[in-house]
Amino acid sequence: MKLLIDHANLTDIKGLIELFPIDGVTTNPTILAKEGENPKERLISIRKLIGPDMDLHCQVVATKKEEMMAQARKLVDMLGKNTYIKIPSSGEGFKAMEELAKEGIKITATGIYSPLQGFLAAKAGAKYLAPYVNRIDNLGYDGLAVTKKIQNIIEANDFGTEILAASFKNSNQVLDLVERGVGALTLGPDVFSGLVNDRNVDFAIGNFEDDFRSLLEEGQTFLDIL
Ligand code: G3P
Repeated sequence: MKLLIDHANLTDIKGLIELFPIDGVTTNPTILAKEGENPKERLISIRKLIGPDMDLHCQVVATKKEEMMAQARKLVDMLGKNTYIKIPSSGEGFKAMEELAKEGIKITATGIYSPLQGFLAAKAGAKYLAPYVNRIDNLGYDGLAVTKKIQNIIEANDFGTEILAASFKNSNQVLDLVERGVGALTLGPDVFSGLVNDRNVDFAIGNFEDDFRSLLEEGQTFLDIL
């Protein structure tokens, strides 16, 4: 399972990569707008920061197939091999996915709110399907159930595609899909910090340090005596 950061702030991305086992970054137009910088420059900076081997998912901003395809080709040229192009899972989007997949461009079908949208995107050749877990919950449906149904559809039809679950608001949603085992999750920095935000953990680590200090001289660390 891959773990990605759903964010475009360079300082935050760098900090999260230093702390967590991260496989890449996902962005969308709203996430880029929050940064206020020219989006082309910001995407290039993110690619430079994470290097050529990590996955970078960036979204086209168009409603018509031809424009989606033109943007997708330019984004891949600009951002390199491990770039996934997020295409909205709409009618025009499915057609664009099909043609771009034939050109060898890696597609992440985004804006998925229902299992049948997932089915159509998988059939159109998307490499990843991105259900919006929390946004589905906010509509009064069950985001985790929709995501699991899509996983069942992938397995039953033997599609060469994986889930990239997005839009999380809490650790429980993450745990549920980690247990189920989906292809990838993308989390915002707030959700990342919640994964290990436990005072009992800090307390236990602090106790180990305090106890061990009695074996060392003033100012010494374990490394000093190894
Ligand atoms: O990239 C799409 C998805 O991650 C949106 O998340 O938090 O805006 O619901 P959110």
